Amino acid sequence: SEMLKDSAPKDGFKPRKVHVIGAGTMGADIAAWCVVSGMQASLQDLDEAQIGKALKRAKGLFKKRLRGKTAIDSAVARLIADPEGKHIKHADVIIEAIVEKLDVKQTLFAELEKKAKAGAVLATNTSSLRLEDIAKPLADPGRLVGLHFFNPVAQLPLVEVVRGEGTREEEVDKACAFVTAINKLPLITKSCPGFLVNRVLAPYMMEAVRLYQDGQPREKIDQAALKFGMPMGPMELMDMVGLDICNKVGEELDISPSSAGKTDNVLATLVKQGKLGKKTGEGFYVWVDGKPKREE
Ligand code: NAI
Repeated sequence: SEMLKDSAPKDGFKPRKVHVIGAGTMGADIAAWCVVSGMQASLQDLDEAQIGKALKRAKGLFKKRLRGKTAIDSAVARLIADPEGKHIKHADVIIEAIVEKLDVKQTLFAELEKKAKAGAVLATNTSSLRLEDIAKPLADPGRLVGLHFFNPVAQLPLVEVVRGEGTREEEVDKACAFVTAINKLPLITKSCPGFLVNRVLAPYMMEAVRLYQDGQPREKIDQAALKFGMPMGPMELMDMVGLDICNKVGEELDISPSSAGKTDNVLATLVKQGKLGKKTGEGFYVWVDGKPKREE
């Protein structure tokens, strides 16, 4: 992992309070992870039910990762439901993990910039939008940096720190310091489609979709990958990531699994049907009790 440590020195910035906006697949787990690492995290979402679910899931993580009632109680107290964003002004790091739509993110960051304290990191978890585009409406676009976490957050050590064309070096440094402070490994990448990891991962996923479209059973595709030595098959992985997210990344990299002459593909069709994977209970698999149901 030494090769990945190309981040700059990071003295001075000691983040303690994180504010996360979007309490879905990623935001909920990012906030919970920050708390496990000793920070205070406030969690905001338009949909209060999402925050409730997030707090519940976080408690499961605390029980798994922390020893003793005192430690768990203290973690529960450090994770704050904040539907109105009252904690934004106190946060050292603000992470956006809302829906992957440019205009919605732009509107949010224009607001956040006004509320955030000076020196706070403004970060987006986007996986397919250009940082330069998200930063456009900001008075200080050089402030925006990408913090691209991977799903499942608690298990994957890497976080891509995305440097947009205009991102100030100081912000990249602070973002790296934050990633290190939450015991993850920062990898600085350029703001190109797919950054680094998805450039490698997305073609693998899209080829699996093509195989599936060509009639190979999803279980067989996943078994092949597993027996090859991957920790999880691509079909299950896509369901975990969220098919809407995978579809966006495929489009962004221009490798959507459409057959010649057809605009539609299985992935896009599932997304249209609202079958987004684990988070909606069905994607390539039907999910029961957090596990994919496989045909024998
Ligand atoms: P999700 O759909 O699970 O959660 C999004 C949440 O944002 C929902 O709870 C929704 O109610 C909330 N929301 C939407 N608009 C909002 C607004 N204006 N203000 C406050 N809350 C709002 O989405 P997911 O998968 O967590 O993705 C979030 C972001 O993270 C996206 O930008 C995605 O590209 C990125 N990402 C996703 C990964 C994944 O594996 N799912 C991996 C890395 C990045």
